[in-house]
Amino acid sequence: MAITLILLVLFVPAVTSKGSHSLSLHATYIKGNTLFPEYSYTLMLDDVVLGLFNSKTWTYVPRGNTTDEDNVIDPQHLHTVSKNMYDDFVERWIVMDGGNLTGSLQVHQKMVLCELLNNDKPGQMMTRSASKGLTTDELCYLDGKFYYQGTSYVTQQELEPYLELSKFFHENVYYPACINTLKNYLKKRGNQVNRKVKPRFKLIQKAKLDGESRVSCLATGFYPRHINLTLFRDGQPVSDHEITGGDLLPNDDGTYQMRKSLEISRADTHTYTCSVTHLSLDNKLDIYLEFDHSEPFKSLIPSVLIVLALVLVFGTGLIIYKCRRRRAVIASIKNDYSSACTSEENMDAAS
Ligand SMILES: *[C@@H]1O[C@H](CO)[C@@H](O)[C@H](O)[C@H]1NC(C)=O
Ligand SMILES: *[C@@H]1O[C@H](CO)[C@@H](O)[C@H](O)[C@H]1NC(C)=O
Ligand SMILES: *[C@@H]1O[C@H](CO)[C@@H](O)[C@H](O)[C@H]1NC(C)=O
Repeated sequence: MAITLILLVLFVPAVTSKGSHSLSLHATYIKGNTLFPEYSYTLMLDDVVLGLFNSKTWTYVPRGNTTDEDNVIDPQHLHTVSKNMYDDFVERWIVMDGGNLTGSLQVHQKMVLCELLNNDKPGQMMTRSASKGLTTDELCYLDGKFYYQGTSYVTQQELEPYLELSKFFHENVYYPACINTLKNYLKKRGNQVNRKVKPRFKLIQKAKLDGESRVSCLATGFYPRHINLTLFRDGQPVSDHEITGGDLLPNDDGTYQMRKSLEISRADTHTYTCSVTHLSLDNKLDIYLEFDHSEPFKSLIPSVLIVLALVLVFGTGLIIYKCRRRRAVIASIKNDYSSACTSEENMDAAS
């Protein structure tokens, strides 16, 4: 279970604000007796997987539309990146764990990301490391400045030469290479990440068992993922603390969905509407209420059936809840990335 969760973090799509793009690499190093390869990574353009690498075969396998993509990444360059990152993991494992071979499972991860802003201006480059699912340190390169933040496992003296070297490599190698590769991938896969798919949506009110009602605004099947869904009561936005949901969830086909719900009493006479803004829509769209008249449960149903149904509802509810949680965790990590370099904390730490 722990492993599945940790590995899921690997597939966190890269974060970009509206109109910007990112290239990101998500690497995992596992030391211990598992079925997983010791070392693997995923390369992504925004939230699209470009290819996968694992240490069992020590090869990188492109994914999806690879027409004419061979020249985007220099194989020699890719090999160097793969090797360097692997060495770094091994070194980190030795430092952090004293090479403790008797120790149980060790999982280290690294995420490297660079951005191109809407105006084609190169944005930040970031490297974030994590151990056992927790972020340990973060390097950020932005506008020629270099920021470091972390619960470092080495002393300040040991750290400084490493940072100096890191800064040099960022300026002269990593950053230009990453931005360049990103630009080249955008030429190949621009259509895919710049596509706009309209959401399907509805606003429904449904009676609940306890005599209350739930108003839900749903949008699904949209791309890109940035969307604003706002519930209104008599024309006034309903405040966030009354609302449940709002997590961005992925669909199987690469699009996204979002739901926002509000609990109301059955006697509530307010007028509810929902509005959606999305890149695929020229204007804000207002959605009006549809009633779902299906009775929650008829009193005629024998009580045994009610109990059975409740058990079922509870059971599936729990499963759905668990899946949601997992996706919500992923979504929140994504949000973290987007704010990483610009948060005041970081600036303070750097100055
Ligand atoms: C090695 O790992 C074992 C099991 O996790 C632990 O009990 C022990 O303290 C570790 N030794 C060192 C030196 O970290
Ligand atoms: C695949 O990539 C090629 C070359 O960039 C492009 O012409 C083609 O439209 C793409 N196909 C799909 C299905 O995206
Ligand atoms: C959502 O609302 C925010 C704040 O008003 C705005 O900056 C952003 O562009 C909106 N996003 C979309 C997809 O409309």
